Amino acid sequence: MMIEQVRKEFPLLTETVNGNPLIYLDNAATTQKPIMVLDAIDAYYKTYNSNVHRGVHSLSMKATEAMENTRELVRSFLNAKRTQEIIFTSGTTAAINLVAYSYGRKVLQPGDEVLLSGLEHHSNIVPWQMICEEKGATIRIIPFNEKGELVLSELKHLITDKTKIVAVNHISNSLGTINDIKTIIEKAHQVDAKVLIDGAQAVAHLPVDVQALDCDFYCFSGHKLYGPTGVGILYGKEEILDAMPPFFGGGEMISCVTFEKTTYNELPFKFEAGTPNIVGNIALGTAIQFLNSYSWDDIIMHEEKLLEYLTVELLTIDELKIYGTADHKTSVVSFLVGDTHPYDVGVLLDKLGIAVRTGQHCTEPLMDHFGIPGTVRASLSIYNNKEDVDALISGLKKTLPMLL
Ligand code: ALA
Repeated sequence: MMIEQVRKEFPLLTETVNGNPLIYLDNAATTQKPIMVLDAIDAYYKTYNSNVHRGVHSLSMKATEAMENTRELVRSFLNAKRTQEIIFTSGTTAAINLVAYSYGRKVLQPGDEVLLSGLEHHSNIVPWQMICEEKGATIRIIPFNEKGELVLSELKHLITDKTKIVAVNHISNSLGTINDIKTIIEKAHQVDAKVLIDGAQAVAHLPVDVQALDCDFYCFSGHKLYGPTGVGILYGKEEILDAMPPFFGGGEMISCVTFEKTTYNELPFKFEAGTPNIVGNIALGTAIQFLNSYSWDDIIMHEEKLLEYLTVELLTIDELKIYGTADHKTSVVSFLVGDTHPYDVGVLLDKLGIAVRTGQHCTEPLMDHFGIPGTVRASLSIYNNKEDVDALISGLKKTLPMLL
């Protein structure tokens, strides 16, 4: 994989910020978009903008076909059995809320337990808190060690007959830990609990096979996968989705409506009320085609090498501490230097055109565990190169003396 060729696919990477060439290291927040994704958005609005599943006219049929083509691309990307198992949502957060409010509301009883991990993003905590409060169920937490790895030996105490749902991330957005979700799924299934995997940080960095994992739900967002914002996917096993009540009501999700009774559409449309983000869904398919044009071996090798280089170089800086040193991690390095505040570091780096994320990264319990206000987070993707890392390191060496 020629990184310079890959970079040419991303027009935004040639921008300048505050008079300096952009160094984009905030890929865990969102990725930049390749030309083919931008072209797909443009082509839809310029040549076949129309609603889907509703018209017999040519434009509508073309839009429907393009959107349904994405569903098939996602099915294949996740190795799901059928397209009926692929639900378009507005993102990972919407997908988790859908499962909490449909599946969770249906099955949870007072005294039941929902098991999360200490590494979760707020979007995989708060919906469960809300539904547990409504249903009288309790949240339990898988702890993590100082390296940021889940302590799976605790599962024997945490997964019991009371456990009905387990919801964990595949990769931690704050620490980069790749969690051993296969083991978690196996243990949860021993008590017949269902497992939701938040794959928001995973899908751009490693291949996902939902059948091999045997997870019950898997969700991700388009914008972390070189696609547009406002789109995402919920995968669910067909028999589970089939038995779940709809969450949103409206057009498209119905089969027959009378004032006395409404019957619902079949999967996947039962969960897709209203006009969807048509262009976003189409462009998500293009983003998957973009990713499919590279081999996973090349992507993983490139990102692993760069992560190692970034880690080694960061550790040459005095007083710099990395949070998240799991044996299996990817693409994210969170750090603090001495007692500098992450926001101050982020603002000074921005003056040099270097984009990193600062703060709690929507994982306040995780930051509380470490007793820190947040971190500076540099996160990598397919188009980052050694020059990006060098620019960050020299930027830090330049700015830190002002703060320490
Ligand atoms: N969840 C995204 C992040 O980690 C926004 O930055």
